[in-house]
Amino acid sequence: MATTPSTPRDNWGSRLGFVMAAAGSAVGLGNIWKFPYTAGQSGGGAFLMIYLLFVIFIGFSVMLTEFAIGRKTQRSAVGSFKSTDKRWTFVGFMGVLSGFLIMGFYPVVGGWSLAYIFKVGGGLLNTPEAIGDSFGGFISNPVQPLIWMGIYIALNIAVVIKGISGGIEKAGKVLMPLLFLILIVVAVKGISLPGATAGLEFLFKPDFSKVDSSVVLAALGQAFFSLSLGMGAMITYGSYLKKKENLVQTTAMVVSMDTAVAILAGVAMFPAMFAFAIEPAAGPGLVFVVVPQLFAEMGGTIGMLFALMFFIGLTVAALTSSVSLLEVVVSYLIDEKGLSRKTAVFGASTIMAIMCIFASLSLGGLGPTIFGTGAFDVFDLLTDKVFLAVGGMFICIFAGWRMSRSDLEKEITNDGEVSFPLFGLWYNLVKFVIPFAVAIVAYMGISGGFESGQGPIMLLGIAIIAVIALVSKKL
Ligand code: PHE
Repeated sequence: MATTPSTPRDNWGSRLGFVMAAAGSAVGLGNIWKFPYTAGQSGGGAFLMIYLLFVIFIGFSVMLTEFAIGRKTQRSAVGSFKSTDKRWTFVGFMGVLSGFLIMGFYPVVGGWSLAYIFKVGGGLLNTPEAIGDSFGGFISNPVQPLIWMGIYIALNIAVVIKGISGGIEKAGKVLMPLLFLILIVVAVKGISLPGATAGLEFLFKPDFSKVDSSVVLAALGQAFFSLSLGMGAMITYGSYLKKKENLVQTTAMVVSMDTAVAILAGVAMFPAMFAFAIEPAAGPGLVFVVVPQLFAEMGGTIGMLFALMFFIGLTVAALTSSVSLLEVVVSYLIDEKGLSRKTAVFGASTIMAIMCIFASLSLGGLGPTIFGTGAFDVFDLLTDKVFLAVGGMFICIFAGWRMSRSDLEKEITNDGEVSFPLFGLWYNLVKFVIPFAVAIVAYMGISGGFESGQGPIMLLGIAIIAVIALVSKKL
């Protein structure tokens, strides 16, 4: 077992490189695909407010914790816990499992985005009235989405096989700013449509009568998912980080960028939706229907070019996120199981591709179901509503109760060189408040989940965590 790497660990090439890679992991389908439709289904403004509170008080602190654990231990998700306290290894295994589960559906959506580059290029915008049906027909087709998913996974393999500073870092640095610019164009165009203000009101005017425990859990899950937290992705990225980087500043930058992109995506989507009379609760097809319609409205070659750039940007954003998911699994296999990078990448992505086949087929009503729920939704529910938040809770308990306060302070302040006046506040949030808050939200959300039929799957998630905790000591 290669728990102590003898060669120096691969490092990020530059300061900006790391920030961009971590932001690349955070900014992805979670912001542009998931956030708008989840906000739409959860009532809009009130959801946004709760989400923002979670991002500021929980997301920021958990991200800083993950970076600190990763850089201090210089180990990936599993190794970082194992090297500190063997009994906590299960948190790392939960992370690796989350990596597999998210990669069991994320590449399906990544594949849609890739397909849409070609669909837009092939004249999708010429018949605006058919855009909605065309999406429904495409994702429920048993074969087509699988081909795109396969290509998307191949792109992931190509990036991750080169190691972190070769592939991931370069991809993130060049293409993230482009996406940001295109989103601004989409938002400006959306706001200028007649009837758009109703969309802005929906997004920014909170109506708390729509809030119940499921909405609160959805907001918490969205915060963790969007910021890539709770499964060791940021621990893994932090483990490749040099000792002199400023963790607090990096965290602040990544959290702000991620949140800005999510809000921007909301501003881009909701006004257009209201203008086109699309239901806010329309679900996972939202971006793939609203954005093409918006650019069809713009008309001509310009509209098509913008739509093309949008889906190229979305695909790249998805890619810089999914490579971080794959990297969690790959770095575990390399660090703890002694596999070569190549074997680890091909082995892990084969399993992920098989999971994605089930996920994709389930959208056309094919394949097995659990408690009446298809594979796509099962993988999504387990991670988004259970594993990430509970994983984040354990990461905080681990840092607060199993690491020494002075070690953490040294790590975060670079041995006193960086000042972090809020250290005490952060420490108490991590040690007491966050574990307690997450436990309450998860408990209430899961109980509430029984009304919508999601409860059994969430309970299954808790059972899986219990099993992992029991068997991981023997691994
Ligand atoms: N944050 C990514 C997104 O928003 C998804 C992700 C989740 C990546 C967890 C890594 C870990 O698309």
